[in-house]
Amino acid sequence: MNIFGSEDRGEFIVTPWTVEGEVDYNKLVEKFGTNLIDDRLMERFIKAAGESHHLLRRRIFFSHRDLDKILDDWENGRGFFLYTGRGPSGPMHIGHIIPFYFTKWLQDNFKVNVYIQLTDDEKFLEESRGLTLEDATKWSYENMLDIIAVGFNPDKTFIFQDTEYIKNMYPLALKVARKINFSWVRAVFGFTHETNIGLIFYPALQIVPALFEKKRCLIPAAIDQDPYWRIQRDIAESLGYYKTAAIHSKFLPPLTGPAGKMSASRPESAIYLYDDAKTVRKKIWLAYSGGQPTVELHRKLGGNPEVDVAFQWLYFFFEPDDAKVKKLEEDYRAGKILSGEMKNILIEKVIEFLEKHQERREEAKELIHLFKYDGELAREMWKKIHQ
Ligand code: TYM
Repeated sequence: MNIFGSEDRGEFIVTPWTVEGEVDYNKLVEKFGTNLIDDRLMERFIKAAGESHHLLRRRIFFSHRDLDKILDDWENGRGFFLYTGRGPSGPMHIGHIIPFYFTKWLQDNFKVNVYIQLTDDEKFLEESRGLTLEDATKWSYENMLDIIAVGFNPDKTFIFQDTEYIKNMYPLALKVARKINFSWVRAVFGFTHETNIGLIFYPALQIVPALFEKKRCLIPAAIDQDPYWRIQRDIAESLGYYKTAAIHSKFLPPLTGPAGKMSASRPESAIYLYDDAKTVRKKIWLAYSGGQPTVELHRKLGGNPEVDVAFQWLYFFFEPDDAKVKKLEEDYRAGKILSGEMKNILIEKVIEFLEKHQERREEAKELIHLFKYDGELAREMWKKIHQ
């Protein structure tokens, strides 16, 4: 389904590895057992943050677990920490970076620690990707530059790559793993007897960072990652930690149409963070539109912003001004704005965003050491966290 929450249009699948069909987010919330963010909670959240964000106002981040408890802890002075991550399987696209921009906004406003996991192990273990461990390590480095470019505070942000940081995570991963049996992960993730045993153990590793501090954790991510948090919540208290909280986003729709997820196997479906202006123009120009077949018909009947990917991208992320977005929507529906015009508006926004991002990415090369600890420092960090 589209970001407006209109009715179901058929079957869909959402797992940490697959998004197929047009997702009905209301049904998904029911299926996953999460909660929609209601107006009261949103207002409370914005008040605590001290400012609003369009990703919240527009319910792009639309669902949660225990967000109210995060706010209780915040108000009581107990505080909380943030955790998010990336599976370094290749270059990052705009959909991948959105949770990081939102996480940075949370860090800026709540002044809390952020832990960012790079799961090179997970991407190597997903055999269908055909990555070597060296590839996954290379992509960890490349992705880390994009993540640093978002602008996290180096004094409060720790970025780690599983194969490097494993020594520090392993004791806790064992405690987590002993609490989870095969039938459970099989039911949650759909593992089969053919699944390699690395992947069967892997959920323990994605759960561990949600236990990095003896405070409540808040995880901003798209809703596909929620199955891990469900397991964490079932075992955390028995290990002496808090159940994690989560705030879930919808998926930025692929350029090719409202269904499914952007994918490396269809490069035209996504804009990558390294794309140049010419590529951006070309890809957006070819994007799925909600317009009529001819200009005359469009002027007469108007377009459909609910399926127009250019409008959806503006709504989702690229046009933070509510008044402007509302006018674009109305004018498009009324046939006053043509699909090509909508695309041009998006193209300019995306090019501007990418130019800034790419500049900061260059600067990030000098900053890596501030975010990434290994050896002694990693151990010190671990001790600090766990004492
Ligand atoms: P990965 O690399 O698939 O995705 C990285 C982050 O991007 C989100 N995401 C999207 N958000 C909006 N629109 C989209 N189209 C879109 N596609 C992906 C994902 O939900 C994720 O937040 N296993 C994880 C790595 C990981 C992780 C975590 C993610 C480890 N620990 C903690 C989130 C939180 C993965 O492969 O993400």
